[in-house]
Amino acid sequence: MHAAIVIGTRPQIIKTAPILKEAERRGLELDVIYTGQHYDYEISKVFFNELDLPDPVMNLGVGSGSHGEQTGRMLIGLEKAYLELEPEVVVVPGDTNSTLAGALAAAKMCIPVAHVEAGARSFDVGMPEEVNRRLTDHCSSVLFAVSEWCRNRLLAEGISSDDVYLVGDTMYESIKSHVKDIEDDDVVERLGLEEPFVVLTVHRAENTDSVDRLRGIFGALKDTDLRVVFPCHPRTRVRLEELGLLEEIKNWPYLTIVEPLGYFSMLRLVRDAEVVLTDSGGLQKEAFWLGTPCVTLRDNTEWRETIELGMNVLAGADPGKIEEEVRSCSGKSRASVNPYDYGGASGKIVETLLSRYET
Ligand code: UD1
Repeated sequence: MHAAIVIGTRPQIIKTAPILKEAERRGLELDVIYTGQHYDYEISKVFFNELDLPDPVMNLGVGSGSHGEQTGRMLIGLEKAYLELEPEVVVVPGDTNSTLAGALAAAKMCIPVAHVEAGARSFDVGMPEEVNRRLTDHCSSVLFAVSEWCRNRLLAEGISSDDVYLVGDTMYESIKSHVKDIEDDDVVERLGLEEPFVVLTVHRAENTDSVDRLRGIFGALKDTDLRVVFPCHPRTRVRLEELGLLEEIKNWPYLTIVEPLGYFSMLRLVRDAEVVLTDSGGLQKEAFWLGTPCVTLRDNTEWRETIELGMNVLAGADPGKIEEEVRSCSGKSRASVNPYDYGGASGKIVETLLSRYET
């Protein structure tokens, strides 16, 4: 059986790695089509190298652009790619513009779509990811949910239970199989982080496009004795420069701004941090699995289980609230259950694809 998987951003590379390994083991031919949504070394190629993944069979090189422009360029490239590769099923992980384009191009060509991480909802249609995941779910033929909540959501939206599979999260499998690499990474020593520190990441438009929100987030911890380590996403660097904020915050003694980090370094920081401050989706779950409390710099989240289990809290971009939540995080204590683990997500995904589509 011959399938393709469409990815284009760093979280998608992480989500895909265990599926590729399992596909190879089970004899499922799975071509990687890379859209090129992320093109900088630090946020794309380094992940392929660290996770020891084969090069994509195609790189569409779409690069950046407005949502319509970027998605449109992907649709054109993907249609050609599918015509050439003739996949029997197209797998799309996550909720990025690459996910939506991968699904839409396939559905229009009557190729079955398999969505990995289906059913997640923030109920905020102002987020491009929410639009991407809803549309992707509703043009998919087979939907792999990471949690019970996600599965129930899909059923509530009228999707047939015959097409929904509760498999768990491949991001969790990625962490599990790289515990030693995370342990061995020397980022903490490299950055000279001797005192307690928090890790900060900010890249979502709702934060990067508002000078007030950016000021709120960066100013939140200035009166604490915590060091803040901030791996800066390229989008955020551009916005901070445009807003004239970069020069200012560069001199703040408690803030260490670094380039985007590789997978192992990032997870080592998350593991060793007192708290993670982030607006990323994936990092909320990674902090949860590594037993580090998370303060989410958003007004909503699709990963409600991390909140219900007491490991995550929403603070928006309000400096007072962020500081209060960071202060009240009482040390590390891993949640006693993992709502994203059902015993090997990638195995269940590959197995399902083979049983449904192998002729
Ligand atoms: C995308 C995803 C988001 C995911 C994130 C992970 C969508 C709608 N968003 O957001 O869900 O959490 O990836 O990082 O798909 N840029 C570079 N180099 C790159 C890539 C981007 O400089 O390699 C800069 C460009 O200025 C670009 C901006 O970042 O305009 C935004 O990049 P884009 O790929 O559109 O979205 P992300 O913010 O990375």
